[in-house]
Amino acid sequence: MEIIERYKSMNKHKWKVMDAIFKYLWDFEFVPVELISKRANLSATKVESILRDLSDEKMVENKITEYIGSTFTFIGLSVYSLHRMVRRGKIDMIGKKMGEGKESVVYNCYSEKFGECVIKFHRVGYPSFKKVKEKRDYGTLHFSVLTIRSARNEYNALRELTGLAVPKVYAWEGNAVLMELIDAKELFKVKLENPEDVLEMIIDETKAMFLREIIHGDLSQYNILVNPEGIWIIDFPQSITLECEDWEWFLRRDVENVLKYFKKTYGIEKDINDVMEYIKKE
Ligand SMILES: Nc1ncnc2c1ncn2[C@@H]1O[C@H](COP(=O)(O)OP(=O)(O)O)[C@@H](O)[C@H]1O
Ligand SMILES: [Mg+2]
Repeated sequence: MEIIERYKSMNKHKWKVMDAIFKYLWDFEFVPVELISKRANLSATKVESILRDLSDEKMVENKITEYIGSTFTFIGLSVYSLHRMVRRGKIDMIGKKMGEGKESVVYNCYSEKFGECVIKFHRVGYPSFKKVKEKRDYGTLHFSVLTIRSARNEYNALRELTGLAVPKVYAWEGNAVLMELIDAKELFKVKLENPEDVLEMIIDETKAMFLREIIHGDLSQYNILVNPEGIWIIDFPQSITLECEDWEWFLRRDVENVLKYFKKTYGIEKDINDVMEYIKKE
């Protein structure tokens, strides 16, 4: 419940300071107090005192180099991203933690606009496969920038895949992505009665995603949810588009993961080359 507790302990001045840090994250690993002070319209002394409090609460990390600077921790960036979601009217209530992995923390939440949904806070940055460098990409790519990109990549992929067997995506702010709650279990947790059908659905879905020029990049029994109605594919931060030179290698690895799982668990054998041809053919 850490994110929620921290969220509750915030106040107007702290939000102003965090707004300023967020604004300059792309340009500085540690945002100078002087800039925060100007942007937040608070004295440098006041900003320093707020930064000390935020640091005690594990929301920021402060560093003295040639200047005093500050950067978000995972908790701080997540609390701030939640704040942006709330401010934009995307979320009205946050509920229980549904899962916590190495790469993300996922909470159940409620939105008047979208109903029951989940908010996923990213904590790992995936390398970007984009060839065209973005204007802001120079300089050191630190934790916050990487996790924000990873959330953006997941949001963009899910939006691109709207209508397929993926959660509907509602919003992206900072390292957080808001999406539809899928009431289903991870594939590795269930004993399927119709494994052949499910495998076919997964292959067809991979093909449908390929037709929209997206490859998952981390497809496995952990990122496929199933219930009696069907399958859903989740977890897209590392997804790539066909612009990536090595797309075929990633597609093959995804297919291989799935085929291996169905062979090991259900004794179903399919030739990987046949499946690859099937996915790639128009
Ligand atoms: N849209 C969703 N609906 C229901 N459960 C979800 C959803 N997104 C994530 N989860 C749950 O949270 C876990 C972690 O999410 P995932 O996107 O796979 O991130 P990670 O990179 O940490 O594996 C999933 O295994 C699943 O149990
Ligand atoms: Mg996952």
